[in-house]
Amino acid sequence: MSAHGKPIKMQARKSAGLSGEAHVPGDKSISHRSLIFGAMAIGQTRIKGLLEGQDVLDTAKAMASFGARVTRVADGEWHVDGVGVGGFAEPDHVIDCGNSGTGVRLIMGAMATTPIAATFTGDASLNKRPMARVTDPLALFGAQAFGRSGGRLPMTIIGAETPVPVRYKLPVPSAQVKSAVLLAGLNVRGQTVVIEEEATRDHTERMLAGFGATITSEQTDEGRVITLEGQPELRPQDITVPRDPSSAAFPICAALITEGSDVLVPNIGLNPTRAGLFETLIEMGADLTYENIRDEGGEPMADIRARFSPDLKGIEVPPERAASMIDEYPILSVVAANATGATVMRGVKELRVKESDRIDAMATGLRANGVEVEDGPDWWIVQGRGAGGVQGGAICATHLDHRIAMSFLCLGLSTKEPVQIDDGGPITTSFPIFIDLMRGLGATLGEVDV
Ligand code: S3P
Repeated sequence: MSAHGKPIKMQARKSAGLSGEAHVPGDKSISHRSLIFGAMAIGQTRIKGLLEGQDVLDTAKAMASFGARVTRVADGEWHVDGVGVGGFAEPDHVIDCGNSGTGVRLIMGAMATTPIAATFTGDASLNKRPMARVTDPLALFGAQAFGRSGGRLPMTIIGAETPVPVRYKLPVPSAQVKSAVLLAGLNVRGQTVVIEEEATRDHTERMLAGFGATITSEQTDEGRVITLEGQPELRPQDITVPRDPSSAAFPICAALITEGSDVLVPNIGLNPTRAGLFETLIEMGADLTYENIRDEGGEPMADIRARFSPDLKGIEVPPERAASMIDEYPILSVVAANATGATVMRGVKELRVKESDRIDAMATGLRANGVEVEDGPDWWIVQGRGAGGVQGGAICATHLDHRIAMSFLCLGLSTKEPVQIDDGGPITTSFPIFIDLMRGLGATLGEVDV
C-alpha cells in the first residue's frame, strides 16, 4: 500500500539519451531542520526553496501542533514564527510523522527537555523502525518514552521536568540520533556533548551555529566531539535551502547508464558529509564533472554534469565513506548493475533499518531482473552486467520506500525489458516532481494503466 492512498503501479522502459537540465527540489535534511529550528527561535524565520515533499509537510504540521505559526507564502516559500527554546506547547492530538524517520527523531529530541507529553505515530514503514536509538539518550536527559515492543511507534514521550546535560557517544553512525541529542541539549543548562566515530551529515551543527547557538566540533582520538552550550536564544534566520544531492543522484545515475545521455544538474551542495556518491561514481569511471564550483552560505556548491558512461567498472566502496552516501546505495547498486565486474559495499548495516531494509529490497528486485547479488548482515556485492546488459522484465516491491521506487525506475531506463514497481506513491515523500522531471529529460516512465 502506498503511504497516501492506494498503490500506484509504475513502469520504466529503455529510453533514448536523456538530455537537458534537471532542477531537483530542496534538500530534505535541511528542509526539516529549517522548520524545526525556526520553531525553536524567537521571531520569524523565512525559508525559500523548501522541499514540499510529504515528509517535510508532516514536519511543518507537527511544528504547528507544538505552537509555532507555520505559513506557506508561495511555492517553496514558508514563514515560521517560533516559540523559542523551551517554548513548545503540549500538542492536543497525536503527531503523525508519516514516512519520516528524520521528522520523528528530530522532533522527539526537540521536545524531550520541555515538560510536556506528545504521542508520535507514522505509516507502516515508520512504525517498524527502531526508536530506542533516540529514546535511550533522551532518557539520560530525564525524558521518558512509552512505546510498542522493540521501541517502536506509536510512542509517547514525556519531556524532562528538570533536564540534566548529557555526554553521549553515538553507538550507530546516525545524524538523526546526533541531532536529537543536540536539540534536546538546547533546553538544558550546561554543555551537551555528542561524540561520533564516523562523521555523519553536519547540517544540524552548521545551522544551529547560524541560528546563534554556541556549538563547536573538534576531531579527537575518540572521534568528532561536538559541544553545545545549552539555553541559547535562537535568532530567526532567512534560509535558502540548497538543492538535494540525494535527489540529484537519480537523474545523474540515470544519465550515466542511459546511452546517449548528457544531463546538467545545477546548484547541488557538495558538503563532504553528503557527497560520497559522486566520489564513488568518479572512481567507477563515470563521466561526471563539476562546473561552476563555488561557495554559498559556507557550503561548497557546483553544477554537476553527467554523461552516458559505457565503461563503468565495479569497485570496492570504502566502508568509511558509508555515512556520506548512506541514502545513495540503492541507486549506486543500479549503476553497479550496469558496470563491469563486482561492486562491493561493506559497513552498511544501517541500510537494513531505513524506510525499508534497503539491501534486501534492492537485492531481491535486482535478482528478479537478472542481476546476481550476494548479501550479508552489513554488506552486499552486485555483479555488474556491463552497460545495457541487465535483462529487466520484473515487478519490484518498493516497501513504502521512495528511494527504492526511484532506483528501480532508473534501472528500467536501460534494461532490455521494462521494469515495473508495485507502488510509486511514496516518491512524493522526497521528490514530488520526479516523474515529470525525468520525463522532461526524455525518460520513458510513468504510471502503468491498470
Ligand atoms: C538524515 C540522516 C540519515 C538519512 C536520512 C536523513 C538526516 O539517517 O538516512 O535520510 O536528515 O539527519 P540516519 O541518521 O539514521 O543515518
